[in-house]
Amino acid sequence: MKAIEVKNLTFSYDRKVNAVDNISFTVEKGEVFGFLGPSGAGKSTTIKLLTRLLMPQVDRVFILGQDMAKADHKFMRKIGISFENDVLYPALTGYENLYFHAKLYGINKQEIKDVMKTLDIWDARDKLASQYSKGMKTRLVLARALVTRPEILFLDEPTSGMDPDIAAYVRKVLKDLNKQGTTMFVTTHDMHEAEQLCDRIAFFNSGKIVDIDTPESYKKRYGESRILFKVDDAIIAVDRKNKEELLRLIEHDQWSSIHSREATLEEIFIKVVGRGLKDGE
Ligand SMILES: Nc1ncnc2c1ncn2[C@@H]1O[C@H](COP(=O)(O)OP(=O)(O)OP(=O)(O)O)[C@@H](O)[C@H]1O
Ligand SMILES: [Mg+2]
Repeated sequence: MKAIEVKNLTFSYDRKVNAVDNISFTVEKGEVFGFLGPSGAGKSTTIKLLTRLLMPQVDRVFILGQDMAKADHKFMRKIGISFENDVLYPALTGYENLYFHAKLYGINKQEIKDVMKTLDIWDARDKLASQYSKGMKTRLVLARALVTRPEILFLDEPTSGMDPDIAAYVRKVLKDLNKQGTTMFVTTHDMHEAEQLCDRIAFFNSGKIVDIDTPESYKKRYGESRILFKVDDAIIAVDRKNKEELLRLIEHDQWSSIHSREATLEEIFIKVVGRGLKDGE
């Protein structure tokens, strides 16, 4: 049985442009599968469709073999959802937000404590959710997704707004969960996050999947390693195959250091998709 099976999923908000345009993919159990794409690509819309926060116009989503068109409350416990701009109850404390959610699924208080400790927000449990910082809110939303111990986690930009060290810590928590068997579907526009977390990555743009592969295989297929010359304060990157330019720079003898570097996922994304992962590229 596949963890996730999606066939020809399509959705339009205005019935003119498709925000998600005929996508199909499968995710194996235990896999971390990523959607990497720029702002407005349709990543959040895809997660909403998969988890039924939006109803697709064409209906072919199976999760753990369950046809999502017929999923009930009991089945939904198997799924954890964490959204970038999720709705917390601002007038409730962090703890109360989790308690309210846990109650719905019959989860005990010890589990709430465990998950808040794991995500390092236990000390802030009595603060109102409205007083949480952005990174703390993201962790509280993640805690809410984890508290039911789901088989599959849907994570929309899971480290958005976090300081780099907290983001790295949250990725470690997610990796540990994956080692224990949790399947994950992750969206991000952060190539480092995609590379660190994901077994396979879909390059996603304008509602379409452009390619699906492992990070290593993308690099083998598209990545040309480069030689970097530091000349005064500038870095000049030269394709390894461009011997003429390499020799010219070496003979010129004005460089202070030379390094070789693999192509980044972002460079490969630009090559394959024709645009970058950040606005305006
Ligand atoms: N509620 C809505 N009503 C109308 N259009 C919407 C709505 N939500 C999203 N869209 C549009 O659908 C497209 C995809 O948006 P979506 O939020 O899924 O992108 P995203 O990849 O998650 O972007 P980001 O990285 O900024 O979160 C965009 O053009 C967006 O303007
Ligand atoms: Mg989004």
